[in-house]
Amino acid sequence: MFKDSESGVKALARLSTLVNSSLDLMEVLDNAMKYVEVLMDAEASSIFEVDYERDELVFRLARGKEGDKAREVRLSMDEGIAGYVAHDGEPLLVADVSKDKRFTSRVDEYTGFKTRSIACVPIKHKGRLIGVLEVLNKRGGAFEEEDLEVLTVVSNQIGIAMENARLYQRLQEEFTLTAEELKKAQQKIIQGERLAALGRLSQGVAHEVRNPVMSIGGFARRLKQKFSRDDPSYNYAEIILKEAARLEKMVRDVENYTKMREPEFREVNLKKLIELAVGEWRQEKTSPDIQVNLDIADEETTFPGDEDLLSLALKNLLQNAGDAMTDPGEVSISAHPQGRQIFIKVADTGRGISPEDIPQIFDPFFTSKTQGSGLGLTTVQRIVIEHNGEISVKSTPGQGAEFQILLPLYPDDMQLSEFEVLGNKE
Ligand SMILES: Nc1ncnc2c1ncn2[C@@H]1O[C@H](COP(=O)(O)OP(=O)(O)O)[C@@H](O)[C@H]1O
Ligand SMILES: [Mg+2]
Repeated sequence: MFKDSESGVKALARLSTLVNSSLDLMEVLDNAMKYVEVLMDAEASSIFEVDYERDELVFRLARGKEGDKAREVRLSMDEGIAGYVAHDGEPLLVADVSKDKRFTSRVDEYTGFKTRSIACVPIKHKGRLIGVLEVLNKRGGAFEEEDLEVLTVVSNQIGIAMENARLYQRLQEEFTLTAEELKKAQQKIIQGERLAALGRLSQGVAHEVRNPVMSIGGFARRLKQKFSRDDPSYNYAEIILKEAARLEKMVRDVENYTKMREPEFREVNLKKLIELAVGEWRQEKTSPDIQVNLDIADEETTFPGDEDLLSLALKNLLQNAGDAMTDPGEVSISAHPQGRQIFIKVADTGRGISPEDIPQIFDPFFTSKTQGSGLGLTTVQRIVIEHNGEISVKSTPGQGAEFQILLPLYPDDMQLSEFEVLGNKE
C-alpha cells in the first residue's frame, strides 16, 4: 500500500518526530499531512477542528489545489462525511462519495475541487473529540482498511500536537499576561513603598510642627488684637496669622493622609458612589458656576470597594477640577463597566496641566496652588492602588484635564488578601 520504499513503521516513526519537533502547529500539520498524502498516494487532505462554541467543524488545514478556498467553509457538526465521523467517533471509508448520502458537496461546489473517495478518522485527545482528519482521492485505486489504521495512528499524533499547541499557546498567553502584570505590580510596590516612606517622614514632621504652629497662630491672634488697624504691625500680625493658618491646614492634611485607613471591601454600587461624591463636593464647593454632567452605568452595577475612600478620591478629583476653573465651566463624570473593570472618568474644562507638571502631580506636596497641600492626588492614587486599580491623566493645557480610573469589577480579580478581607466581611 505504501508508495515509498520506506516501511510503514519507519514512516510512522518519522512522522512522529515531525509532529513533535515543532510547536508551530500549522507547519506540523502541513508536514504531517503532506507526508500522509505521499504515503497513501492521495490528492488532498484536510484537518478539521471542532469549534465547540459554535458547534461547527472548521478547516484547520486544507491541502490540495483549492485548499485556501476550502478554509473559508465551516461545516455544522453533523454535516458531510467529516460531520458523520465527528458524531460517530469511528473511522470511515467512502469509496465513492457520489453513492453516499452522507457526503456533502458543499465544499466542492465552493472550491471547484472534485472529491471522489474519502478516508476519514476522528482526532481525539484523551477520549475527547478535537477534530477530524480526511484524506481524499487515492490515485492508484480505492482506500483500504489498512489506510484507516495508518490514519488512526497519524490522527493520534496530530491530536497530541494540536493539544500541545493549544496548551502552549495558552501558556504563552498566560505568561505574557503575567509579565505585564508583574511590571504593573512592581510599579505599584515601588509607588506604595515610596508613599509609605514619605508618609512616615511627613507624619513625623507634621507631629513636630503641629504644636509650634498652633502657638504661633494663637499668639499672632493675640498680637493682632493689641494693634489698631492703621498700625503696620497689625498687618504683620495678620500675615503671620494667615501663614500659620496655611501651615495648620497643611499639618491637618498630612495627618489626614497618614492616618487614612486601609480600605474595607464591601459591595459598592457604582451609581450611588458617584452621586455620593458629587453630592458632598457640591455642598463644599465654593464656585457655583460649574455645570456637572453625569453619565453613569445602570443602577445595578456593583463592585468590590470601600465606598467612603472611593468617594473621598472622587471628591478630591472634583475639588481639583473646581480649582482649575476660573470662568464658568463643566465637569463631566462617566462611570461604566468595561470588560472586567469599572472605568471612571472625571473631565473638566479648566486650565489643564502642563506637560512638565504631569509626571509630578501625583507626588506628595506637589502643588501649584497657594493654599494647596499637594496631597489630593497622592491620596487619590493611593486609594486607587489599594483597590488594585489604576489611574491615569490626560490634559491639553488651556482646555482641561481628564482623570481616568480603572477598578476591578469582580472580587476574583482583586489580590488574594483583599479577597479574603472581602470574604471575612460578608
Ligand atoms: N483638574 C485639574 N486641572 C488642572 N490642574 C490640576 C488638576 N488636578 C490636579 N492639578 C494639578 O496637580 C496639582 C496637585 O493636585 P493635588 O495633589 O490635588 O494637590 P492640590 O490640589 O493641593 O494642589 C495641583 O496643584 C494642580 O497643579
Ligand atoms: Mg487637590
